[in-house]
Amino acid sequence: MEEQHINISFKVFTDQEELVKEDLDLLEKAIMARNGAYAPYSNFKVGAAVLLENGEIVLGSNQENASFPSGLCAERVAVFQAGARFPGVQILSLAISAGSDKEPSHKPAAPCGNCRQSIYEYEHKQRKPIRVLLKGNHGPVYLINAISDLLPLGFNSSQLNSE
Ligand code: THU
Repeated sequence: MEEQHINISFKVFTDQEELVKEDLDLLEKAIMARNGAYAPYSNFKVGAAVLLENGEIVLGSNQENASFPSGLCAERVAVFQAGARFPGVQILSLAISAGSDKEPSHKPAAPCGNCRQSIYEYEHKQRKPIRVLLKGNHGPVYLINAISDLLPLGFNSSQLNSE
């Protein structure tokens, strides 16, 4: 028996002005995208902004439904839209702004498990990390180097195909 360890490290920016301009711009787009959220059931609004290698930025926001499971998270709205509009174009970064208007958060909310898996599909396909920027209503910004850092031992096509 051997024990293995998986460690991740990520950056915490208490002053978001320390972010490089490209990241700050993307985060501001994610914050703006929250305005498009349709979240009458949870009142928890999430905005996402995807930066592609061709310079395009694709936005998403959470879209809820009276039949709760039929709704979709902001991250998947954005990433699936990017995949559909720009097939084969690599994703460089994804910024996410999440929080409740009624009870504003002071730390970031990381993507749910389904979103991590969905984003990881693209990271595995493109063989290049997808960086993730996270922010709550207020407080610090987290910069995660790759979505796979948030999905240790993640499932991918190599398990299906024995690559
Ligand atoms: N939500 C997201 O948009 N992204 C996540 O990663 C977590 C949750 C949405 C789904 C639902 O509309 C609301 O937040 C509350 O769960």
